[in-house]
Amino acid sequence: MNETIGIFVAWPYANGDLHLGHVAGAYLPPDIFARYHRLRGNRVLMVSGSDSHGTPITVKAAEMGVSPREVFEHYHRRFLENWQQLGISFDLFTHTDTENHYAVAQDIFRTLYEKGYIYTDTMIQLYCETDQRFLPDRYVEGTCPHCGYPNARGDQCDNCGRTLDAIELKDPRCKICGQRPVPRESVHFFFDLPAFEERLREYIDRQTHWRPNVQNFVRNYLKEGLKPRPVSRDLDWGIPLPLEGYEGKVMYVWFEAVIGYLSASIEWAHNQGTPDAWEAWWRNPEARSYYFIGKDNIPFHAIIWPAELMGYDEELNLPYDIPANEFLNLEGEKFSTSRNWAIWLPEYLERYAPDPLRYYLTAIAPETRDSDFTWRGFVDRNNNELVATWGNLVHRVVTFAYRRWDGRVPTPGELDGRDQVLLQQIERGFDEVGQRYAKTAFKAALREAILLAQEVNRYLDEKAPWRQIKEDPQAAATTIFVALRAIDSLNIMLAPVLPFSSERVRRALGYTRPLFGELAVEEFQETERSHLALVYRPLPEERTEDRWRPSELEPGRPLEPPEVLFKKLDESVVEEERRRLIEKSRQA
Ligand code: MF3
Ligand code: ZN
Repeated sequence: MNETIGIFVAWPYANGDLHLGHVAGAYLPPDIFARYHRLRGNRVLMVSGSDSHGTPITVKAAEMGVSPREVFEHYHRRFLENWQQLGISFDLFTHTDTENHYAVAQDIFRTLYEKGYIYTDTMIQLYCETDQRFLPDRYVEGTCPHCGYPNARGDQCDNCGRTLDAIELKDPRCKICGQRPVPRESVHFFFDLPAFEERLREYIDRQTHWRPNVQNFVRNYLKEGLKPRPVSRDLDWGIPLPLEGYEGKVMYVWFEAVIGYLSASIEWAHNQGTPDAWEAWWRNPEARSYYFIGKDNIPFHAIIWPAELMGYDEELNLPYDIPANEFLNLEGEKFSTSRNWAIWLPEYLERYAPDPLRYYLTAIAPETRDSDFTWRGFVDRNNNELVATWGNLVHRVVTFAYRRWDGRVPTPGELDGRDQVLLQQIERGFDEVGQRYAKTAFKAALREAILLAQEVNRYLDEKAPWRQIKEDPQAAATTIFVALRAIDSLNIMLAPVLPFSSERVRRALGYTRPLFGELAVEEFQETERSHLALVYRPLPEERTEDRWRPSELEPGRPLEPPEVLFKKLDESVVEEERRRLIEKSRQA
C-alpha cells in the first residue's frame, strides 16, 4: 500500500548563510527521509522556503544599508544553490514573500479573528523617543534576565538560548540609536492560545511515538500554562494585517512562517497544474506529516502551529511527528554566528564533496543528544568507513568482474551455504535498515548498512575470489556474482544518505536509469511579482514502484568501469581546517 508522507522542513531566515549545525539539525534528515520514501514508492511531498520577513531580515538590511528585499533575495538564491549542491530534494523550496503565501496567511489570520481566536488588546512595549517608533524583538538589546548576558536580543538570548520578550531585558538599548527606550502602551493582536489548551493537551498526549526529548519539552511547556501571544508587530516589512485601520502593523513572522507549510503545499499543487493535489497531504487522515526542525523551534511546531490549524479548519492534519534534533557543536564548542565559530555550508561545498558530509553528519546525528563535529572525526570517517569499507568494496569487486568476465556480471554456479547466508543477511537488512529510516533513526540506519558492508568484506576475505580464480574459476564467478548483488542491494540502502555516489555505483553496475530525479531552479510568475524556487522532478517510478528490495542483478549484464566514488583525505586537512576556524573567529 502506498503511504502518503508530508515532509515539512523549518523555513530558514534568509538573513545569512546556513552552517553545518543547521544542516545536521533540520535539512539533511528530511532529505534522507524523503529519499527513503521515494525508493519505497510512497507519495512524498517535501516543502519549505526562505523565511523572508521579521526583524531578523530588517535588522540585517539596516546593517548592510540595503532593503529587506535585497537581503532575503540574496540569501534565498544562495540557499537554492546550496540545496542543489548538497542534494536536498525539496519538491518545492519557495519563500514567504509570494502572493500565494500572503493570501493563505491572511486568510488564516482573518478566519481566526472572525472566530474570536485573535483579538485586540493593549500591551506595554518599548518605544524609542529618538527614532519615534516602537521597537519589536531584535530592535532592542540588553541584559538577559536569566543569565546576565549583556548582549541579549529582544526575542532571544544567544547565550542561554531562552526566548525573551523585549520588555524583560535589563538595561535595554535601542538597536538603531543606542538610547534607552521607554515603556509605552500600544494596541496589538493576540492569538488566544489558552482557548486551545485542552485540545492541545489531548493531542500531545496521543503522540506517544514522538522522540522522548520532544515529548518532555512539550509536556513541560504545557504544564507552565499557555498565555495569549501577540501576533502583530510594528514594522513596515512583512504581511499586512487583513483588517482595515492597522497600517504600519504586520503579522508576527513566526505566526505566518509556519503557515508556509500549508501555503507551499498549495503553491506546489498549483505549479503542477493540479490545484487541489495538496489536499492529499492535508485532508486525508491516512497521510502522515513530519516536521523537521532544530530543538529551539519546538514550541512553534508542537503548540502554536497546531493551534492555528485547529482554529482555522478542524479537518486539516496536525503534525504526525516532530523529530526535532538536539544541537551539533563544533570542535567542542557551540556554533556561533557572532563569534564566527562555524563552518558555513557554501564554504564547505567549495572545498569538499557533498556525500562525505552527508555521511559524517548522519553518523554523528544529534538525534537524542548533542554531538560534536570535529575535523578529526570527519577525516577518519571519510577515510576509514566511506573509502575503506564501502568505496573500496565497490571498486575492487566491480573492477575485478569487469576485467575477468569481459565487462559483464559473471554467471554463478550453485550457491553454497556461505553465499546464501550473506544474501539472507542482506535481505534482512532491507527490513532492519528500512524500519530505522522510517522511524527517523537515521544514525542507526546508517550504522546497520555499514555493518552489512563490513559483512560483505568479511565474506570476500573468506572466499578470496582473487585466489579462487586460479584454482576454480566457476567458484570465483559465484563469489563475485553474490558480492555484486550484495553491493547492488547495499547501494539502495545507502542511497538516501549518499545520493550522489549511489548514482555512480548504479552506473558501474550497468543500470541506465538513475535512482532519483533532478533538482532545478525555476522562476514562477504570479500576478505582480515573480520568484525563484527550487523544484524536484521525480522519476515516474518513484510514485509507482517499491524499489526497496534485494538486488536482482542478472548474469551477463554489462558493467561499466567504476568512477571514483570517494577520495581519501590527507591527514593535513585536520590541522589546516582547525587553523582556518581559529583564524576566522579571531577576525570576528
Ligand atoms: N526562520 C526560523 C529560523 O530560522 C524558522 C522558522 S520555521 C517556520 O529559526 F516553521 F516557522 F517556518
Ligand atoms: Zn540569557
